[in-house]
Amino acid sequence: MRQPRILVVDARGATGLPYAALVARLQPMDLRIERSAAAAVDALRRNGWDLGVLTAREAGSAAALVEAVRQADAELPLVVVDAHPSVAMARHCLQSGVGDYLDVDDAEKELEGALVRLLSAARRRDAEEVLRRAVERPYSFEGFLGESPAMRGVYSIIERVAASSVDVLVTGETGTGKELVARALHQRSRRAAAPFVPVDCGAIPDALMESEFFGHEKGAFTGADARRMGLVEFADGGTLFLDEIGELPLALQAKLLRVLQERRVRRVGARHETSVDVRVIAATSRNLEAMVDRGEFRRDLFYRIHVVRIDLPPLRERGDDIGLLAEFFANRAAQEMGKTVSGLSIDAYQVLKSYHWPGNVRELQNVVRRAVAMTRSAKPDVEDLPDDIVAAAGRILPMADGDGFFARRAEHVTKFEKHYLTDLLTRHHGDVTAAARDAKLPRGTLYRLMKTHALDGAAFRAK
Ligand SMILES: Nc1ncnc2c1ncn2[C@@H]1O[C@H](COP(=O)(O)OP(=O)(O)OP(=O)(O)O)[C@@H](O)[C@H]1O
Ligand SMILES: [Mg+2]
Repeated sequence: MRQPRILVVDARGATGLPYAALVARLQPMDLRIERSAAAAVDALRRNGWDLGVLTAREAGSAAALVEAVRQADAELPLVVVDAHPSVAMARHCLQSGVGDYLDVDDAEKELEGALVRLLSAARRRDAEEVLRRAVERPYSFEGFLGESPAMRGVYSIIERVAASSVDVLVTGETGTGKELVARALHQRSRRAAAPFVPVDCGAIPDALMESEFFGHEKGAFTGADARRMGLVEFADGGTLFLDEIGELPLALQAKLLRVLQERRVRRVGARHETSVDVRVIAATSRNLEAMVDRGEFRRDLFYRIHVVRIDLPPLRERGDDIGLLAEFFANRAAQEMGKTVSGLSIDAYQVLKSYHWPGNVRELQNVVRRAVAMTRSAKPDVEDLPDDIVAAAGRILPMADGDGFFARRAEHVTKFEKHYLTDLLTRHHGDVTAAARDAKLPRGTLYRLMKTHALDGAAFRAK
């Protein structure tokens, strides 16, 4: 999940009292400081922000600041920090929808808490909205759920190329829905009534591959006691789906290329070729270009199947679709299991949303099924999710649960990390390679952690 973006307005800029400390502490937040209302309005028009902090340095100026910002964004959660606070101004601000009004002297202590509270309330509202929409009008396209811009792009390509019978290469990480794309293409083509034949290229033993693909004549080899049709012929008139095409051995790649070019097959042991009318859809989660460069995949075959390519976005890039999918999978699982469960809790959804989903939709489906099976309540909650997923989300969750368990844990982890890194780098005089070896951390991980905590190796070098 992206970090919250906070816009600060303060005539004193970054040196304004509470912010220097805040910037240091909330390092991962995307914080921007503008010196005037006009500059802030400009920034608001150009970018999406999650929250605004308006600092009124002159007595009575808060009202005008709020007014200016509201013109540009009527919904933005706001905190006002007033150098000349008054009860009247506090009332005026709160009536204009300002979330919190602070005396500048208290801001250093209280601003962070106010931000966390307002951001978490806003996130919760967004989450509720996503789940509500998921129930009201789940958008679906040929078995796909999801209405993110990335997925709408995929639907649009499918619509455009489905009918044409052109061969298609589908790429994407594991579990992103590559087979679903192949089936949708088939369904929307004039071949829909003919067979859809999926072939897992990684699962057929090399020795059997040729006869599996192309069939064989009686007596073609020992054990071939009857004539047999191959998968390519079997798909005649329909669609042949070559899943994990990157696993195909080179020898078979050459034969497949011939089939694609000539649309003819020769059974093992046969004298004549038979013509076939197949549409080929290939899928892979591997990087075929790199395989071509390494000589593991034929360049000519790659070009042949690469005419139209549909690249599926990983789940983590599909935004609110995660909520839609989770809600759908939960309800379906509940129905199958005969449990009176509907959807999942807002907190559980927020955990799911901040996880990175290496196994994509399939992994989400499994996690949600498990949660439905485990839960004792009407909506699966955070406790019904696997520990590693909750732990991975913990670093971001403080925004979601204020001062609950996860927030407190994340706070301690953050403090520990900073303390540990500072000590480690001091002992190694800023030598990151030596420090990484000592801490038994990959160097990249150490660099990332240092960046998170704004630590620079050079600062630790002996002068
Ligand atoms: N957008 C979606 N909406 C609903 N279900 C989906 C969606 N995408 C994938 N699924 C479901 O997720 C599971 C995995 O999809 P699929 O088998 O098509 O993925 P894949 O990319 O072929 O994965 P792999 O590379 O592991 O073979 C299937 O059960 C599929 O129905
Ligand atoms: Mg698959």
